[in-house]
Amino acid sequence: MAKIIAGIGSSHVPAIGAALDNGKTEEPYWKRVFSGFEKSKEWMAKTKPDVAIVVYNDHASAFSVEMIPTFALGCAAEFPPADEGWGPRPVPVVKGHPALAAHIAQSVILDEFDLTIVNKMEVDHGLTVPMNLLFGQPKDAWPCPVIPLAVNVVMYPPPTGHRCYMLGKALRRAVESYPEDLKVVIFGTGGLSHQISGPRAGLINSKWDKSFLDNLSKDPKKLTRIPHLEYMREAGAEGIEMVMWLIMRGALDDKVDEVYRFYTVPASNTAVGHIILENRHKAANKDKRAHAAKSRQAAARKAAHRIASKGR
Ligand code: DHB
Ligand code: FE
Repeated sequence: MAKIIAGIGSSHVPAIGAALDNGKTEEPYWKRVFSGFEKSKEWMAKTKPDVAIVVYNDHASAFSVEMIPTFALGCAAEFPPADEGWGPRPVPVVKGHPALAAHIAQSVILDEFDLTIVNKMEVDHGLTVPMNLLFGQPKDAWPCPVIPLAVNVVMYPPPTGHRCYMLGKALRRAVESYPEDLKVVIFGTGGLSHQISGPRAGLINSKWDKSFLDNLSKDPKKLTRIPHLEYMREAGAEGIEMVMWLIMRGALDDKVDEVYRFYTVPASNTAVGHIILENRHKAANKDKRAHAAKSRQAAARKAAHRIASKGR
């Protein structure tokens, strides 16, 4: 059975991608940002997922304002990087997992979440920047296949936080009904507080962001009750991207272990937030296995003792 073992929350600021692509990672401004992801890259290299589901938003790259699906699942075999105005980013083509994606589409849609099925799509900074932050800068290929899930947060009305959280739960049911043993991680990307244009451009609300991260770990249901207007007021117009983190959180256990967190301001005009949450059943299974091994050893000792005493 496939299993979601962990969730990763990460900002997807495009300037981070530009810093990587233009060799600026050692500049002090950028070093501060990238150093926060060193441990995460180690964690990812150790975790070695078989598949990553990346929840992100398209910024009018693949979908123009003519047509914007609320939830779009990438079912293709590959997703080339989009040209966002400066040519496509020099990152590997993202390989999909069509078999698991088709299974997720079937399971989630029959579970009454009407996803849009996308068989051809380019992916923008919303997906490629978090990939770099967690997987580094591979030259030829990303280390695992990716199923993109694009969410509309660019044109009113975006989905509610509660809807996103419930979609996460449906995604988990979908993954767990896939027969192959696969280790799956899920990314929620975007945010944290930021506003790109208008009189409040540059708005950052660290206090609100940090409380969002605290609740994401400990009390995500509380976050599902935040209305759109509160995101807009407290976290800026583009802060609404944070609802995507609730899809990731909904796909995890109610109680999780926060294994890593990083927060810094600013990068470009934006707060950068990052969190890694692990499901506890991973640890519980390990305990169960250790317990079973101990019982087997005890039974073997007893049997050996019985045979030895018979012989006497
Ligand atoms: C910017 C754009 C984004 O999509 C985002 O999530 C954060 C920042 C920007 O243009 O600075
Ligand atoms: Fe964005």
